[in-house]
Amino acid sequence: MALWSGRFEQAVSERTQQFGASLPVDKKLYREDIAGSIAHAKMLAAQGIISEADRDAIIAGLQEVESEIESGAFAFDINDEDIHMSIEAALTEKVGDAGARLHTARSRNDQVVTDVRLYAKRRCGDLLRANLALREALLKVAQEQGDAVLPGYTHLQHAQPVLLAHHLLAYYWMFTRDYERLVAARHAADANPLGAAALAGTSYPIDRQKTADELGFSRVIPNSLDAVSDRDFILDLLYAASVSCLHLSRLCEEVVLWSSSEFGFITLSDEYSTGSSIMPQKKNPDFAELIRGKSGRVVGDLVGLMVTLKSLPLAYNKDLQEDKEPLMDAADTLEACCYIAAGMLSTMQVNADVMLRSLGEGFIAATDIADYLAKRGLPFRQAHAAAGHLVLLCEKRGIGLEDLSLDDFRGESELFDEGIYEVCRPEAIVDARTSFGGTSHQAVAVQMEEARARMEEDRSRCAVNEGNVTED
Ligand code: ARG
Repeated sequence: MALWSGRFEQAVSERTQQFGASLPVDKKLYREDIAGSIAHAKMLAAQGIISEADRDAIIAGLQEVESEIESGAFAFDINDEDIHMSIEAALTEKVGDAGARLHTARSRNDQVVTDVRLYAKRRCGDLLRANLALREALLKVAQEQGDAVLPGYTHLQHAQPVLLAHHLLAYYWMFTRDYERLVAARHAADANPLGAAALAGTSYPIDRQKTADELGFSRVIPNSLDAVSDRDFILDLLYAASVSCLHLSRLCEEVVLWSSSEFGFITLSDEYSTGSSIMPQKKNPDFAELIRGKSGRVVGDLVGLMVTLKSLPLAYNKDLQEDKEPLMDAADTLEACCYIAAGMLSTMQVNADVMLRSLGEGFIAATDIADYLAKRGLPFRQAHAAAGHLVLLCEKRGIGLEDLSLDDFRGESELFDEGIYEVCRPEAIVDARTSFGGTSHQAVAVQMEEARARMEEDRSRCAVNEGNVTED
């Protein structure tokens, strides 16, 4: 019979027991559960609610349970329902009455959400580190491939040439914002619910600040009902993870496109490719596809939990037990995706010659031809029309803008001279865009410096988190 079985005459059926148990999932919270119980026991003793001898017995017993779980010797029993019951039962078996006093002034309702908050904080730390690894890889490739130029696209049509470094840095900044969202999610989790008890607080003279300090929470949740009912800190994490996965899916979609025969801009290393069991020539970008695909499940984790929480009355409802799987799944998935993407990017070969060649296939100089005329006094709309006519001419002849003769250019406008050929060169087009945040070498060098500085800053913030010093 369960620890709560006093008022029952019959046990639930085996099927029901299996259905209601969260142990297979929440056993991953054992470290947090033990830390929470030790903090609680210390506080109870400091407040004179249990004796110091009981506290010491509880702590020693919990430490023993922890090493048994870590070594694999601990026998989990589904009949214990969840990790809280498993640990408490094992403790009581070891230390008797002292163990049975641990649950004074506490409920599983505040216990579970304490565990989940500690877990969420820990996983945010893991995700921040994974985010940094991914951003480091993007910076490295951007640095190494500083001169590669590729078509920039709008509507997946050639638009204007850009530096590959610029293109990759665009992703760098997306992931930098993801870092910020994860920091915010970590802050949301960083509040102590312990001491809310079942829902209404307790008549024992507890000290909630003491358990907060002991567990490294930066603040205490001021409302006991909110403390046991709130799961929006998990939604914050899931949202941050979802956005990051969306960013990864966009990056990976480009990796898939760029590694196709049609593009050929990059060649993935063998380490990050797979073959086909039937087509011997195939080299598939499986891992990029899988990251793209996994973004779906993380968004699913977010939406799933939102729907679970919708319309739930206060305070604890068993529905809330469904909070752990999406949290754990999203954290595991995003963490793995970041490291795989980082490895894939840092080992891929960039085919700069193919990128450059592809620039000749469109009419990527058209904007600069229009700008050339506008800078010589023609109103931009007329300059745009003139460049458009030249594109049409090229299309009819099956040539590129750079293949037109000077007479062709001058047929459209007297303002053209020999200088137009330099204007059409992809590298010149790129380097003309010197505006802040633009794609010229000069502007990208400035951007790179800012990106590096931000990287260093975030690295030290991450180290601070590791030491469990919380941020404002
Ligand atoms: N296993 C439960 C969960 O994960 C722990 C809290 C149970 N509380 C209760 N009143 N049944 O949510």
